[in-house]
Amino acid sequence: MNERSNPGPVPAAPTNDALDIVLRYHEETKHHFARYARGPGALDWANQPDPFRRYEGAPAFALPRLTPADEPTSPPYQSLYRANTIASAPVTLRSLSRLLEYAMAISAWKQVGDTRWALRSNPSSGNLHPTEAYVFAAGVAGLAPGVYHYIALEHALEQRAQWPPQRAMQLLQALPPDAFLIGLSSVVWRETWKYGERAFRYCQHDVGHAVGTLRIAARTLGWRMLLLDGASDDTIATLLGLDRADDFPGAEREHPDCIAAIWPVAQVDMPSPRATVCVPASLPEEAAHDAAGLVWRGRANRLSRGAPVYWEILDQVARASWKASTEHTVVDLPCGRAAESPADDAPRPDGREPSAGQIIRRRRSALAFDGKGSIAAERLFTLLARVMPGAQRSAGERAMPWDALPWQPAVHLALFVHRVDGFDPGLYLLARDRAAAGRLKDAMHPHFDWAAPAGCPTDLPLWLLQQGDARALAARLSCGQAIAGDGAFSLGMIAQFEPTLRERGPWFYRRLFWETGVIGQVLYLEAEAAGLRATGIGCYFDDPMHQVMGFNDARFQSLYHFTIGAALEDTRLTTLPPYQALA
Ligand SMILES: Cc1cc2nc3c(=O)[nH]c(=O)nc-3n(C[C@H](O)[C@H](O)[C@H](O)COP(=O)(O)O)c2cc1C
Repeated sequence: MNERSNPGPVPAAPTNDALDIVLRYHEETKHHFARYARGPGALDWANQPDPFRRYEGAPAFALPRLTPADEPTSPPYQSLYRANTIASAPVTLRSLSRLLEYAMAISAWKQVGDTRWALRSNPSSGNLHPTEAYVFAAGVAGLAPGVYHYIALEHALEQRAQWPPQRAMQLLQALPPDAFLIGLSSVVWRETWKYGERAFRYCQHDVGHAVGTLRIAARTLGWRMLLLDGASDDTIATLLGLDRADDFPGAEREHPDCIAAIWPVAQVDMPSPRATVCVPASLPEEAAHDAAGLVWRGRANRLSRGAPVYWEILDQVARASWKASTEHTVVDLPCGRAAESPADDAPRPDGREPSAGQIIRRRRSALAFDGKGSIAAERLFTLLARVMPGAQRSAGERAMPWDALPWQPAVHLALFVHRVDGFDPGLYLLARDRAAAGRLKDAMHPHFDWAAPAGCPTDLPLWLLQQGDARALAARLSCGQAIAGDGAFSLGMIAQFEPTLRERGPWFYRRLFWETGVIGQVLYLEAEAAGLRATGIGCYFDDPMHQVMGFNDARFQSLYHFTIGAALEDTRLTTLPPYQALA
């Protein structure tokens, strides 16, 4: 294998160059009308990477395969967004199984002829699934303290390293009682195989979706989750064993992404002294680095037959956006009585509404829309309210799932409304942070209307920018994909870009994409709950979208597109159940 193509976790580049490299990567991986970002051209099917990683030789523990009726059962979907309606499940193998099922497991197999492929609870660009998940647990009965890799193919955990109980407890001691950790990493090669230089972006989108599925899955169990954003990438790599070159002999490496704490909150209506803790922004670095001295089990499987194709710019951006520091955003972290989501006006459960588990299991990307289905304005308002982080500036007080991201929201939505009853078709803007509206206005075309749509709730910062039929334009901007024009609406996710990166550092580039992924995940589930369907759109023409908005510099950039509508099913596909199909 070409060593340079398998560098594994990389150290930081000098900071003064790093931002330029990240900005150049972003610029060079834009799709233009006249030229797509550099990619492989034809797909090398013989070298297609395996979407399932195993650490061969590591002991594997099957997680209980729970039916929907098994405990812990799933609350009504709408209750995910209501305050204090879900009692915390104890952290056991069964509840961990539920968490991983709802967040990262296979949700179905699809088949056409002899070809079969798995879908998962988390969506993925090109269904290539670069994201790998790890669990660090110390007090779960039946699971020795240590680090485990999640095997999605078998819904099992394989033990990478067992930790002495006392040292494991030390690592978690600053966290609330019964907390455990989830780590995410990316096999960038899985996306590179198909998408070439744009792959790093797609991996970050997928991390964001996985953060979203995890936070929402944790909420179904009455648990909180927070990215420990102070942890450096070096710490995450060491803790998860990703820096152990000998454990990847000839195998494709994983890039460390993030680590999150998950913990049960107080029982409903039972304020508990257990909840009166402050969650730290990081892990004790020294305790995490103890991991290096442990006995590690298993060797990573090789995913492609041949060597990964090397793209220099991918190594460069990985290096430049590496988080070497323990720096983190100075926002208030959960502290005091563990906060739940603010209540909303949705109707109370009446026994007929679908459970969160039903919505999560049936989430799929639409392949095509009917070009006719419309949605009610009220539905659009509710759906947009769900992507609003809440008025609070403190992560601890924000609405779920935004309470998992410890930074000030930096992504807004530019909506192409096609068919929403009571709405004029046209271009709209949702400022997810009202305080950013002035800056957005300043950067956009001066002729935009900025008119409040009729009936729009006052706490929803939504404006009509320009009336008009945007169906053809939206499809054209999304690489000519009809799904962007045939739905009820589609959108571009507009990130506060260069000033944010200058202020926070080049490592924040990845987090901007993560935020878009969480927004996408909320929208996927909201679409299902509304009887509609959604699709993430990673293929879009960057600067033509910016021209539509009037952006003539990099203060704002569109990082992800998305579409929602009434789906047409592809009747050629057979759907098989997630795990029994393996028997
Ligand atoms: C970041 C991201 C980008 C995507 N881009 C596109 C796209 O440009 N066009 C498209 O048809 N589907 C796109 N998808 C949808 C994926 O193809 C889909 O998630 C994958 O095939 C798995 O199917 P599922 O979502 O039904 O589980 C994207 C998904 C993600 C998460």
